Amino acid sequence: MALVNEHLLKLPENYLFTDIVKRVNSFKVTHPQARIIHLGIGDVTLPIPKACVEAMQKAAGELGNPNTFRGYGPEQGYDFLIEAILKHDYAAHGIYFDANEIFISDGSKSDTGNIGDILRHDNSIGVTDPIYPAYIDSNVSCGRAGTLEKDGKWSNVVYMPCRIENNFIPEIPKQRIDIIYLCYPNNPTGAVLSKSELKKWVNYAIENDALIIFDAAYERYIQDPDIPHSIYEIKGAKKVAIEFRSFSKTAGFTGVRCGYMVIPKEVTAATLEGKRIPLNKLWLRRQSTKFNGVSYITQRGAEAIYTPEGKEQVKAMVQYYMDNARIMKKMLSKTGIQFFGGENAPYLWIKAPDNQTSWKFFDKLLYEAQVVSTPGVGFGPSGEGYVRLTSFGERHQCEEGIQRICQCL
Ligand code: MLT
Repeated sequence: MALVNEHLLKLPENYLFTDIVKRVNSFKVTHPQARIIHLGIGDVTLPIPKACVEAMQKAAGELGNPNTFRGYGPEQGYDFLIEAILKHDYAAHGIYFDANEIFISDGSKSDTGNIGDILRHDNSIGVTDPIYPAYIDSNVSCGRAGTLEKDGKWSNVVYMPCRIENNFIPEIPKQRIDIIYLCYPNNPTGAVLSKSELKKWVNYAIENDALIIFDAAYERYIQDPDIPHSIYEIKGAKKVAIEFRSFSKTAGFTGVRCGYMVIPKEVTAATLEGKRIPLNKLWLRRQSTKFNGVSYITQRGAEAIYTPEGKEQVKAMVQYYMDNARIMKKMLSKTGIQFFGGENAPYLWIKAPDNQTSWKFFDKLLYEAQVVSTPGVGFGPSGEGYVRLTSFGERHQCEEGIQRICQCL
């Protein structure tokens, strides 16, 4: 008899965004006339940049020609894309890596989940709370998170609360943690870490021999010139941090699927006997067993993001979504409701009035304004009493959605 991975059975029945879709679908059954506006899941709405489309069309043509056809590509990614990343995302900012420190992937959700494959199941983990739910769920799936307790926390996870009282900036934990997840600009609160705040984390990791999983999927949305885009802007980070970047929110690739991971050669983890193992080599071994690389067409599309036209088009796209955020904030600020974010990230983090729970406020917005939000508690216990709105919608949808929300407050 085959036995299941019982850890998976500990997960809530649905992933957060699946749960929301289910609730919205039942609302649609009872309200078939409703004109629902979706400001829930952070999915982009603008088409991918023209430079990427043209590059992908050309690449598809190459695959249809016997002289330029390609089969399996390198598991780690094609040199042309890795070189573009090294040059534009790092060397241009004074950060240098070798090509074999970059791993092209199908996006940060898979990467931040899969990285757990090369780390023992009994490492302790720490997360900022609220946090992108896939980090927790993937640790639950392999038994690393322990069991779910009554307060909504997992027994083996250290939660670092990010609340109004600390400006949504987590405090450095008192205890030692093996693996720390940081996501900045933050999903869902929209908060960012200054250089000095990020330095505290790098120093903590160095002093405690910890590993930082740094998700920078939203770095293109940083508007403040003093905020770091990469953890490697901090001295010493190359020894303790793995960075994740995504083209999903940068260039509308949520459906195309492409991102990358940086694993510097200096980052190591130990065996039980204390031998240090470079994670870069271990990840390559894992990838060459379980992954055959991202499609050539996709990687050519991603490479086009770094051309002069691609850069302009991406900039305009980010500007559009940040303008949405600005418009939404302006309208919300007239209502007296408390909200945060939307400055360096495409998310607004809204405090539910009258101490309503996240789901109660979610229902109010759905039933009275016919707007879909994301309940904050879905991102962790400290998210209770909040909802998140995305500014990734089309302009008229963001405007109308916020207008309807303002009316029902
Ligand atoms: C979100 O809404 O938090 C994200 O879009 C989900 C994701 O990136 O997987």
